[in-house]
Amino acid sequence: MRSLADIRSDFPILAREIAGRPLVYLDNASTTQKPACVIDAVADYYRGHCGNVHRGVHTLSIESTDMLESARARIARFIGARDASEIIFTRNTTESIHLAMHSWARAHLRPGDSVVVSEMEHHSNLLPWQTLARERNVTLRFLPIGARERLDPRDLDRVMDDTTKLVTFTHASNSLGILNPAAELIRAAHDRGALVLLDAAQTIGHMPFDAQELDADFVAFSAHKMHGPAGAGALYGKRAVLDTMEPFIAGGGTIANIDRTGASFLSVPHKFEAGTPDTAGFAGWARAVDYVDEIGTARIHEHAHALAARLLRGLESREGVTVYGPGADEERTGVVSFNVANRSSEDVGRALDARGIAVRAGDHCTALLLRALGLGATVRASFAIYNTEEEVDALLEGVNALL
Ligand SMILES: Cc1ncc(COP(=O)(O)O)c(C=O)c1O
Repeated sequence: MRSLADIRSDFPILAREIAGRPLVYLDNASTTQKPACVIDAVADYYRGHCGNVHRGVHTLSIESTDMLESARARIARFIGARDASEIIFTRNTTESIHLAMHSWARAHLRPGDSVVVSEMEHHSNLLPWQTLARERNVTLRFLPIGARERLDPRDLDRVMDDTTKLVTFTHASNSLGILNPAAELIRAAHDRGALVLLDAAQTIGHMPFDAQELDADFVAFSAHKMHGPAGAGALYGKRAVLDTMEPFIAGGGTIANIDRTGASFLSVPHKFEAGTPDTAGFAGWARAVDYVDEIGTARIHEHAHALAARLLRGLESREGVTVYGPGADEERTGVVSFNVANRSSEDVGRALDARGIAVRAGDHCTALLLRALGLGATVRASFAIYNTEEEVDALLEGVNALL
């Protein structure tokens, strides 16, 4: 097993100093840092292989196409898809959710139908459904935060009926570290006749994940949250569902036949990928998948959990600090939210930045969740594989200095 020091040396940015101190990067739920092998994979593509995909007979075009398609196969294998064609490349989780909304929901939902979203959704998994509700006269229903703040499958009984065609929720809360019982929720939604879209932005690459075992119909996720490049994401969809969908952005690379009045489309996944893709980004993502796999998602999850537990125990013992979300011994992710008495979250964030510590301050794009808990904003620390106990202690020291 590689040591933590060894793993840290894979990430060039961790050698940076901020405000004259070593960088302590604890904003991993926003975006993760990239190991040299991922940075090199992106650069190598542009140095040696750059061409456009799916449309050339020359060597660089063929190499680019092979790189894009082998990245698709690698990502499919990583998340446990049945087939590479179930991975549609997008720019990020947000775009993946929009794709499902535009291409599936708009075609399949009728006025009077309902969509269930949870109260803890990131705005990216809320706004598309609000748009659908407005445009199509579809009702948006909210799955409340259950006991101990996790979503509770039994609550689906109260919000679902036979008008409900889709249930969508986040696998893990990006603001509180709550880990939802995804398999049970998905089974319960299926039993009541709805499809499920799982927002896995915070879990894929951070813990073991198996799309077939979970059985969600759609899964949205981003490369940049798991040490891959920004600007690359994917929507996983069950092939039988994807086959019922038409592209929402049509264009070059999506068409089988065209005449003056219309076109027929290629099959899944290419009919959904109009225009020139970020091949370098997807090649970098495939390298990030290898990197994460080499370390192991179980180890990554355990490590982030242990650091979160250390931070929670340290914060809970300090007067003037309030922590939110699941406790140190509960099933949770490596995201910890807290507030310091008489200080705004921005104040705390700026004071920590002056010590070289990067945290996030604000509502974390989950205003509905924070409002349901009577909050406006929190300070959020979130851990990744390269973080250390010393960094947790540096954060605790930084918070202490504000009390
Ligand atoms: C749970 C969750 N969903 C969706 C998103 C949006 O991801 P992206 O910005 O990659 O589209 C995020 C990003 O923070 C997230 O944490």
